[in-house]
Amino acid sequence: MYPNQVTIVEVGPRDGLQNEPTLLTVAQKIELITDLANAGLKVIEAGSFVSPKWVPQMANSAEVLQALDKTQIQRFPALVPNLRGLQEAIEAGCQDIAVFAAASETFSQKNINCSIAESLERYESVIKEALAAKLRVRGYVSCVLGCPFEGEIAFSSATHVADALYKMGCYEISLGDTIGVGTPEKARQMVSAVAERVPIEHLAVHFHDTYGQALANIYACIALGVRTIDSSVGGLGGCPYAPGASGNVATEEIVYMLNGLNIEHGVDLNALVRISHKVAALLNRTPRSKVAQALNKDL
Ligand code: HMG
Ligand code: MG
Repeated sequence: MYPNQVTIVEVGPRDGLQNEPTLLTVAQKIELITDLANAGLKVIEAGSFVSPKWVPQMANSAEVLQALDKTQIQRFPALVPNLRGLQEAIEAGCQDIAVFAAASETFSQKNINCSIAESLERYESVIKEALAAKLRVRGYVSCVLGCPFEGEIAFSSATHVADALYKMGCYEISLGDTIGVGTPEKARQMVSAVAERVPIEHLAVHFHDTYGQALANIYACIALGVRTIDSSVGGLGGCPYAPGASGNVATEEIVYMLNGLNIEHGVDLNALVRISHKVAALLNRTPRSKVAQALNKDL
């Protein structure tokens, strides 16, 4: 049973750019985010308040967020790893943040330098303060279908972390197949397991396309009842602390599939393809997505 409408969370300006060797300037990022908003995207993850030593690509996030035209861009969440990041996000005018935990112990250590339990303890105070300041908080769980260091990850681990973040007050939990190893039936089973604790309308899916499975996984998950999909224009992305992960699923590939299914999403496909080529040129590459390659000749 397919929905009439889904929400796309565009993560390109954050997840897409955080692993690129070419660093974009504040002006280039603002233009990218503004173009994405003009193409119809309503939720655009715009940066992260993490250590610039860990992720130099995001070092200018405060300037980017401060300068965004808040009347034009509806929601522009930023990643926050700790109370310092929260403070900086609030100062930059953020009303939406995302905390990011993992279903894998080793990935948690490599990515945020602490165990899963320590991260949940840290996020409890971040979420409490954020909610008190009237911010909306999204929660990520990475490596839900596999870890670059540990291999297979039990569904119970993703369920435990998702449930904990939801109980702390996250309005939505994004389930990340960070290294893109999932396949449709497994993705369906994982989401079903998590949905026993977190209502499915509060779950989002976040697939990477390392093995070309992302669209098939998304198709399986929306059939199950998921209504929010994360993606990145041009299929940009990867996590610097997840070796082997390729890009996120490309937003234009999701939009093309949703058009074929007659599911509302509010995004202009041609505009998106133009952005995909524009950002790829800035990064000295060609867009990864087949849709951007196929439609380019028509634009
Ligand atoms: P740490 O070394 O344990 O923390 O790192 P620390 O408190 O000891 O601080 C170390 C240094 O970072 C200090 O600076 C702090 O001031 C600074 P120094 O004294 O060395 O000059 N620092 C900060 N600077 C700016 N903003 C802050 C901040 N906090 C401390 N908020 C820490 C812990 C969490 C900071 C670090 O591990 C980190 O920044 N990690 C971020 C890694 C990251 O961003 N990964 C990518 C995002 S996750 C992802 O991509 C997956 C996802 O997309 C889902 C999916 O794709 O599946 C979400
Ligand atoms: Mg990602």
